[in-house]
Amino acid sequence: MSKQKQSAPGTVQMPARRAFLKAGAAAGGAIAAGAVPGLASATGNPENQAPNVADWSHYLGDGVDAHPYGMPSEHEAHVVRRNVEWLTADTQSSINFTPLHELDGIITPNGLCFERHHGGAAEVDPADYQLMINGLVDKPMIFTMDDLKRFPRVNRIYFLECAANSGMEWRGAQLNGCQFTHGMVHCVMYTGVPLKYILEEAGLKTNAKWLMPEGGDAAGMNRSVPIEKALDDCMIAFKMNGEALRREQGYPARLVVPGWEGNMWVKWIRRIEVGDEPWHAREETSKYTDLLENGKARRFTWEMDCKSVITNPSPQAPLMVKGHNIISGLAWSGRGTVERVDVTLDGGKNWRTARIDGPVLPKALTRFYFEFEWNGEGLLLQSRAIDSTGYIQPTKDELRVARGTNSIYHNNGIQTWHVQASGEVENVEVS
Ligand code: MTE
Ligand code: CO
Repeated sequence: MSKQKQSAPGTVQMPARRAFLKAGAAAGGAIAAGAVPGLASATGNPENQAPNVADWSHYLGDGVDAHPYGMPSEHEAHVVRRNVEWLTADTQSSINFTPLHELDGIITPNGLCFERHHGGAAEVDPADYQLMINGLVDKPMIFTMDDLKRFPRVNRIYFLECAANSGMEWRGAQLNGCQFTHGMVHCVMYTGVPLKYILEEAGLKTNAKWLMPEGGDAAGMNRSVPIEKALDDCMIAFKMNGEALRREQGYPARLVVPGWEGNMWVKWIRRIEVGDEPWHAREETSKYTDLLENGKARRFTWEMDCKSVITNPSPQAPLMVKGHNIISGLAWSGRGTVERVDVTLDGGKNWRTARIDGPVLPKALTRFYFEFEWNGEGLLLQSRAIDSTGYIQPTKDELRVARGTNSIYHNNGIQTWHVQASGEVENVEVS
């Protein structure tokens, strides 16, 4: 087992794990007579706890005018997106990460979806918004938001994963928290117009083979998208989880490219040019390619390979008590559905099938659980997902044999968490 220490200054903010553990241990010793055996007792103010009547039961609560737009409880203030300060030079061209260890089910709340901007989050007035279609079409067209909303629309749940998710982990275990190692993924229900309808409206010429969607942000981000994908399941989305897209996610409209790398999901989309060959733009030549050991680069690696991660326990979410515990995690595949997830407690010697719960949808996050008894011994936790094509999530060593160590993108290797006797969890690798 080897662990590479974080090389840059430790600016990642972490909860005070030792304090948590102490509180847990104290509570463990203070189970009241008659308490249900096997359940941990509460840790807060005993005056508010049974059999007493809690403080909040004695007075009227907030009126309905207190929160015109509802916010999470103040006790959940630690559940936020976080960035790793040393990763990028500024916060406009930066990344923050989804707090996966705080979430459950498969839907990411809008305010917690990770953000990746190459030129900051553009502020677009929907009244001025336009989407232009030009190039190899019968009639170049410009659509307003109102125009887009008059097309037949669909609702689809998809994950979006940045190609660079887990990119810092190619050469060894580095970041301590699944928020940072795996938090460049989110999964929401999009409402929008199938791109096919918009292209049909403009009329594709017979030599139309590629699209170049372009963002309205300062980065003007663009990518080449093959026409088959555009006509298959791409969408122009204007809603996420039922409400308007958040500004950070491309308000008022973004491209949805299901199962494919996040970089192609152009936000604040302002133009789609139709052409007969790819553009070989910056984001598909110098970036978002994988330099192999032999000097050649993998290019146009669009589909996100099947991947999984245990979100709890993990470095930001230690094991609190011995006895009955639950391992929970997420699995996904850009090629279809998650067929099965296996979990190991001993670094891959013995694998057991996890329990999948909730919807199992193509190109969406899938939730799994594994219930177990923890006797306080060290554990090496891993999960391994298998998708509907039969593809099995590889180990990190297998990935390195295939692709070397120059890569940043497309790291879907198996993650290992070392649970120590104290309950604290560390990012490690086993070989
Ligand atoms: N679109 C524009 N216009 N500008 C951008 O910087 N970033 C891309 C993509 N679309 C980007 C963009 C990248 S690299 C990713 S991973 C996803 O948006 C992130 O989407 P999110 O911020 O909604 O999580
Ligand atoms: Co990205």
